[in-house]
Amino acid sequence: MRVLRRTLGTLLVLGAAVSCTAAHGDDAKPRGERPAALAPYERLLPAPASARAAGPGYAFGAGTVIRTGLADGAAADEVRQVGELLAEQLRGPSGLPLPVVDAADDKDADGIRLRLDEDAAGLGREGYRLETAASGVTLTARTPAGLFHAGQTLRQLVPLSGPGTVPGGTVTDAPRFAYRGAMLDIARHFFTVEQVKRYVDQLAQYKVNALHLHLTDDQGWRIAIDAWPRLAEYGGGSEVGGGPGGYWTKEDYRELVAYAGARYVDVVPEIDMPGHVNAAQASYAELNCDGKARERYTGIKVGFSSLCVGKERTYEFVDEVLGELARLTPGRYLHIGGDEALSTPAADYAAFMDRAQKTVGRYGKTVVAWHQLATARPAKGAVLQYWGHDRTAAADKAAVAAAAKAGHPVILSPADRLYLDMKYDRATKPGLAWAGYVPVQRAYAWNPGSYLPGVAESSVLGVEAPLWTETIGTRGDLEYMAFPRVLGLSELGWSPASALDWTSYRQRLSAQGPRLDAQDITFYRAPDVPWS
Ligand code: ACM
Repeated sequence: MRVLRRTLGTLLVLGAAVSCTAAHGDDAKPRGERPAALAPYERLLPAPASARAAGPGYAFGAGTVIRTGLADGAAADEVRQVGELLAEQLRGPSGLPLPVVDAADDKDADGIRLRLDEDAAGLGREGYRLETAASGVTLTARTPAGLFHAGQTLRQLVPLSGPGTVPGGTVTDAPRFAYRGAMLDIARHFFTVEQVKRYVDQLAQYKVNALHLHLTDDQGWRIAIDAWPRLAEYGGGSEVGGGPGGYWTKEDYRELVAYAGARYVDVVPEIDMPGHVNAAQASYAELNCDGKARERYTGIKVGFSSLCVGKERTYEFVDEVLGELARLTPGRYLHIGGDEALSTPAADYAAFMDRAQKTVGRYGKTVVAWHQLATARPAKGAVLQYWGHDRTAAADKAAVAAAAKAGHPVILSPADRLYLDMKYDRATKPGLAWAGYVPVQRAYAWNPGSYLPGVAESSVLGVEAPLWTETIGTRGDLEYMAFPRVLGLSELGWSPASALDWTSYRQRLSAQGPRLDAQDITFYRAPDVPWS
């Protein structure tokens, strides 16, 4: 109901702004405040489970070598790739050569050592230990993913540029939630694979591990489907505001999936159904109950389109589209939308979602859908993505709680906390405000483990920050809306609940400013953060 509610925007926004000021008034405007001088292990973001500075540091310099090869078999190749990628990431800022060598025979030699230890206790599937002493930095994990995350922590411990000292100490770390996602809507405005790769790099360094791609909507269909070629060729040729749109070939999609995979980011593709389908209905007359193709659409209304639930051809479409997408996607999840189907009667909606969910299962994938599926019949194991907000009806929240109690995992994306397209405040140029303004503190200062009444932390698969692009069509605007709020998402998803603290977070966030600048990320210098 994004845009329907937007018509109430001004009133709601005023309400939200007042309540934000009341809630966050104390330190909302640290005018002239200087950032705290944090020690390197205190600056880490997301805050690790534990970090302790001790002993002498390691001289990271011209002689530093990255040592892999401390594992056998298939894993050895993957660790080598993690090492190569870490070397590439460290070379740019440091200007050092950082050769990657196979250290099997030389496992105690100086350098940055990547060590796979399947028996390492307490690290889980993605955790790691990072130990720094004069003789080097040792990264230990049970999986290559853990080594990758360790490397991203190391990037925050080396100097911003050039050689220098990695301070002595130990980080032992593992995530709070398995799913730490960001969503990008490439349907309302088209974004290229290169643009999305850049976003993946920006996210993966903060341990985000899922990229949900909203591939289809009323305004554009962005992924090539062999059995239905006009979806992309015709339905891809529009976007909000009348621009040219575009679409990804299967090769483009595979390239992005591989790029994200090398950074331990799983792609979760979404085909939004049974609403949000005007681009498909413009491409194929047979997808309409009246057999007439729709006009392409470039506005920002929602809720006016629906697949023809009573027609068998609709299910051939669903089967072929989801089948092709499942074959392209190594990750376990297929997202089938299910939100704002305002033109689909409730019984039709439930009947349609039953069949779409079965199709996902037949292709060996797990369903993700927006939380409206809770009011129909979520299939066994289906994941619900909650996008409500403080004013969402209690009955809708209760339906999600009941589904969680019945065993459905929940991804939390509260619109008035994690929607990256909500304006920061009245002065923000891009973005919408139907869920209220979302300043940086509001995005960060809440607890996913106790957020939804009746949804226990054990039912929370994780958190995701969606970025809808009705008003966002450039890399600059994308980054400005995502940064710095997406760092809050990273910490909410990764750090232990005991580490979540706005007062300390805003200092740590400020310490990331020079890193964001060094990566040429356009970010919003939020007034509630003491940027240096
Ligand atoms: C949504 O914002 N309609 C999921």
